[in-house]
Amino acid sequence: MARYSRTEGTIALITLSNPPVNALGAAVRRTITDIMHRALTDGEVKAVVLCGENGTFCAGADIREFGKPPSGPALVPLIHDMEASEKPVVAAIEGVALGGGLEIALGCHYRIAHAKARLGFPEVMLGLIPGAGGSQRLPRLIGIPAALELITTGRLVSAQEALKLGIVDQVVDGNTIETAVKFALNVIGVCRPLLSRRLSERTPAFSVDAAAVLEEGMARVKQRARGAFAPVVCVQALRAAATLPYSRGMETEEQLINMLIDSSQARALQYCFFAQRNARKWSLPSGARWNNSKPRAVHRVGVVGLGTMGRGITVSLVKAGISVVAVEMEEKQMDLGMRAVLGMLERDAQRRGDTRPPTHLLTFTLSLQQLGNVDLVIEAVFEDMALKKRLFTELCNVCKPSTLLCTNTSGLDVDALAVVTHRRSLVVGMHFFAPANVMKLLEVVCGPHSSAEAVATAMTLGKRLGKVGVVVGNCPGFVGNRMMKLYLDQAYFLLEEGAAPEQVDQVLEEFGFTMGIFKVSDLSGLDVGWRVRKASGLIGPDVNPKTPSRWRQGCRYSPLPDLLCEQGHLGQKSGRGWYLYETPGGKEPKPDPAMHRFLQEYRSRYGLTPRHVHAHEVIERCTYAMANEGFRILEEGIAARAEDIDVIYVFGYGWPRHRGGPMFHAAQVGLATVLQRLEHYHQLHPDVPHLQPSPLLQRLVEAGSPPVHHWREHVQHLHSHL
Ligand code: 3HC
Ligand code: NAI
Repeated sequence: MARYSRTEGTIALITLSNPPVNALGAAVRRTITDIMHRALTDGEVKAVVLCGENGTFCAGADIREFGKPPSGPALVPLIHDMEASEKPVVAAIEGVALGGGLEIALGCHYRIAHAKARLGFPEVMLGLIPGAGGSQRLPRLIGIPAALELITTGRLVSAQEALKLGIVDQVVDGNTIETAVKFALNVIGVCRPLLSRRLSERTPAFSVDAAAVLEEGMARVKQRARGAFAPVVCVQALRAAATLPYSRGMETEEQLINMLIDSSQARALQYCFFAQRNARKWSLPSGARWNNSKPRAVHRVGVVGLGTMGRGITVSLVKAGISVVAVEMEEKQMDLGMRAVLGMLERDAQRRGDTRPPTHLLTFTLSLQQLGNVDLVIEAVFEDMALKKRLFTELCNVCKPSTLLCTNTSGLDVDALAVVTHRRSLVVGMHFFAPANVMKLLEVVCGPHSSAEAVATAMTLGKRLGKVGVVVGNCPGFVGNRMMKLYLDQAYFLLEEGAAPEQVDQVLEEFGFTMGIFKVSDLSGLDVGWRVRKASGLIGPDVNPKTPSRWRQGCRYSPLPDLLCEQGHLGQKSGRGWYLYETPGGKEPKPDPAMHRFLQEYRSRYGLTPRHVHAHEVIERCTYAMANEGFRILEEGIAARAEDIDVIYVFGYGWPRHRGGPMFHAAQVGLATVLQRLEHYHQLHPDVPHLQPSPLLQRLVEAGSPPVHHWREHVQHLHSHL
């Protein structure tokens, strides 16, 4: 948990030892409290160096202990005693000093960091504030504005930035612990300056009017928080630091963290932390798993299609240092694509202060033949099965036999593509999200033929690109878009029943979504779904002309988006969609009076009496419909865990992280309530079969609504794809 040793005769070396990240669990806190006491009371010890084992100082509190009854000594008195000591205490920071780890370091009198170390207070990402004096000591060290930015965003800083800010005293390239020991030897007996090193005894360094900074900070945080409490509470803690003596500030910090620690938002955010990490632990029905499957080396990747997605994928690959051969079919598209890619790389290089973007890694071509030597291909051509099949057949002839063939399809059958190749085991879906160089999510779609090696390679490549990969099974729309379809359907039905697009969006944004569903549709382009509906026979010549307009394939259907597309209203790109834009390509959505008239006419044409739609109905119908489909996805084995579904929604669909994801949200609302509300809505809308509660949801309620990570045990006859 922590080791004590003596070096250079008078220096006590305390080494935190709790792999993998030296988190401060109860046993660690107990051990360091004991050995720090021993060091501080041992007459032969003149100074203390605190470090962490295996190149990591400390990642803070043990997050697994949150929500459990407190045990072991608290951090605050340990840090207080250390800081109050007359013996200099030096932190030797390697790897990370985060949260409680940085709070311990701030309680030390000096901080030496390795050049590759990162420091920060990520508590806000867990629904918390720094709760062991961090919110009171950091502003006393670096001033209110800088502390406000770091604590409210959770941003980590490099050792170099920490030095500039004054968080650390020295940055070293060599051996941090040896340097810290030498440093400690030098400061032994330099008693007078020690007093000034105690941050609790300083008043915060105000360079500007703190009240104004805090007020402005609060306004900014409230605007960005999308309903999350923790960032707002962080500002309150900093206000305490700015206005109260240290001891009263500490009392406030304690009250504030106690208020947050058991909140549903903190639970949701901590759930997300582990869900994101668990998503990496994939397994296949064959028994292959993340930790027994070897990925292939990927040095050179082919990207086919340089449209919206191909461009972002190319940028992501090049930024990760991977060579890309980008293939287009049309000269004009290639030119446009090339300029877009180079522009994005240029801007990125400028942002990072690099002189030259890594363009030497790029080849643009109109010839598929140039893909002979790539290790992996990502296909991003139009969403057209016949085209993709032709392309995959050609790729088989062109690429070396070991090349992995991946498709970025949004929802077409990955197996159907695999079977046209002579290398079915090397075909997987790599489903990126737009813009692909920004969005974190990557669905790795594996079919019955996909080999463990192919899945491992796609997941490892995703990680290199900085993506959060989730392995999912193959079905129309996979996980994300399959659930999204039902979410969209509900939104259209709500318009038919009386709501306006901006009303639905406002409710969803107040719930915490980054953007309302209609703004998202306008941004992506309404033609995307239109093409999918045409391809799946919901519209077009295959539909029997006698079929009622609001009825398809045995259930209620809303032709609203099709009618907009027929009028050329495709969203932002055409200047009009669910909203009105100043010009085609405009970004600022404005409620469109013509849309309101269009909806009125539509309702009267179909004899629909508009009614007032309450905000709670918008949320319930949209989110419960999604979760209900999530239960079906679990039952079919398309997702291995409810957590994976939530990761997909948080990282790919703008679901508010502080609400955990649609499955976690359903659990927090209460499965019995979700079941009862779905029954209610299904009774009102019997022509919408997807509102009928799924069998898994019903069984979970019968079983007493077990916690999320036990749901899989209730899946019956699992024909798992995973
Ligand atoms: N508590 C418990 N487990 C932790 C942990 C923590 N603070 N930090 C990381 N872990 C676990 C992870 O769950 C993972 O476990 P697994 O292997 O079983 O999945 C393992 O450690 C390795 O973590 P990563 O996979 O994330 O490894 P990386 O190398 O990619 O990242 C890291 C390391 C940067 C330390 C990252 O894990 C991280 O950001 N951790 C969280 C840090 C944090 O939020 N600290 C604040 C805690 S709250 C606090 O300190 C309150 C204080 O104010 C009192
Ligand atoms: P797009 O229409 O912007 O670009 C497609 C590009 O492919 C065009 O530049 C076209 O010239 C090129 N192309 C077509 N046939 C080709 C061929 N045989 N060889 C080389 N290039 C060819 O399409 P977009 O939006 O980039 O979509 C691509 C794929 O990604 C689709 O399967 C889509 O469903 C999927 N996708 C799209 C998302 C989006 O938000 N746009 C999100 C996730 C996936």
